[in-house]
Amino acid sequence: MADQKGGINTRAVSAGELKIKEFGNVVTPIFQNATFIYPNYESGAISDPSTGKPYIYTRWGNPTVNSLEQKYAAIEDSKFGISFSSGMSAISCLAMSILKRGMKLLSASELYGQTYSYFLNKLRENGIEVTFMDTNDLNEGSFKASEYDMIYAESITNPTDMVTDIGLIGELCNGTETKLAIDATFASPVNQNPLELGANYVVHSGTKYLSGHSDAICGFLGTDEDPSAIYDMRKNLGPVLDPTQAYSIARGMKTIGLRVGRQNENAMKISKFLMENDKVESVFYPGLESSPYHKIAKKNLRGYGGMLSFEIKGGVDQARKFLGKLKYISPAPSLGGVESLATLPIDTSHSSMSKAQREKIGIKDGLVRFSCGIEDAEDLIEDMKNALDFL
Ligand SMILES: Cc1ncc(COP(=O)(O)O)c(C=O)c1O
Repeated sequence: MADQKGGINTRAVSAGELKIKEFGNVVTPIFQNATFIYPNYESGAISDPSTGKPYIYTRWGNPTVNSLEQKYAAIEDSKFGISFSSGMSAISCLAMSILKRGMKLLSASELYGQTYSYFLNKLRENGIEVTFMDTNDLNEGSFKASEYDMIYAESITNPTDMVTDIGLIGELCNGTETKLAIDATFASPVNQNPLELGANYVVHSGTKYLSGHSDAICGFLGTDEDPSAIYDMRKNLGPVLDPTQAYSIARGMKTIGLRVGRQNENAMKISKFLMENDKVESVFYPGLESSPYHKIAKKNLRGYGGMLSFEIKGGVDQARKFLGKLKYISPAPSLGGVESLATLPIDTSHSSMSKAQREKIGIKDGLVRFSCGIEDAEDLIEDMKNALDFL
């Protein structure tokens, strides 16, 4: 539970740390245990927060994993933090624990490709009524919140950087039974805490900014609501973190404030450079005053994030050539790590969508998605300039 105060950097470093005074350890140890003494009648035995009882089995709960979850909850400012073996398992466990056959989901149509296909195919197969709506229509409130059991959106959309007005949607859900769930992967808890804006649940692909080093797959869910149905779903489906992996994710999470601060700055500098380059058709970044989402971003975000996308003149062939000429920037999917990555969503994040579905949400074949790392902005700009000059 997040009772830790202090700034985000302080919380990221110290929250959740499991210090055993008999050892005097400074860093949380790895409890590489599948099983624990049962029943544990030891007086003062520490409880697994998911059961309220002493630890029994790591699929239910584990001290190293719980320590990481408390650190996440502290930076999310949520009562509960729950970890998963991937962002998709956080999303699917949330959806399955809230939505039962016959219930209604209203989702933004601009979504990470796998989330979209999960909602479109799997939820519908399971008897959930799924309606998709443009982020712009959600932002205008062109819906009646009480008609849905859950509303789902990404705080900054992948990959075109539309910004969802969570504050406004939260207000529309207020006083209804409708649960608002936000995927805040692109924003990260440094730039936004959706619960504060009125969401009931926030999910992350922790693979990205939360772990931050492109070396782990994980997911997180934050909520102030009773989490027992979600713990129960995770216990049934089993997508839990291994303790050793939880340890290395916690190590990455300690520097999230430093990393994301730098990534926000780099993204702004790179967006401005791209705006002025004559090989570039258009740039999508909510930090730019010219972005149609700038006002909404200012209202909902503390920083504009490290993700931007842009279209290169000449379409997909030129975009592929561009990727092939980069030196410091790796042409690879995923995002949020310390190293800069560039990818074409048609080949990676949105390859599970049809061309027609992609075009409907504004993803052209030649769109390049760029994840800013923490390198020196001047080097990244030079790298991009050289690759663009080659075209
Ligand atoms: C916005 C967003 N949500 C969810 C996911 C899924 O996360 P994971 O790959 O950790 O399962 C991704 C993955 O790229 C993503 O970009």
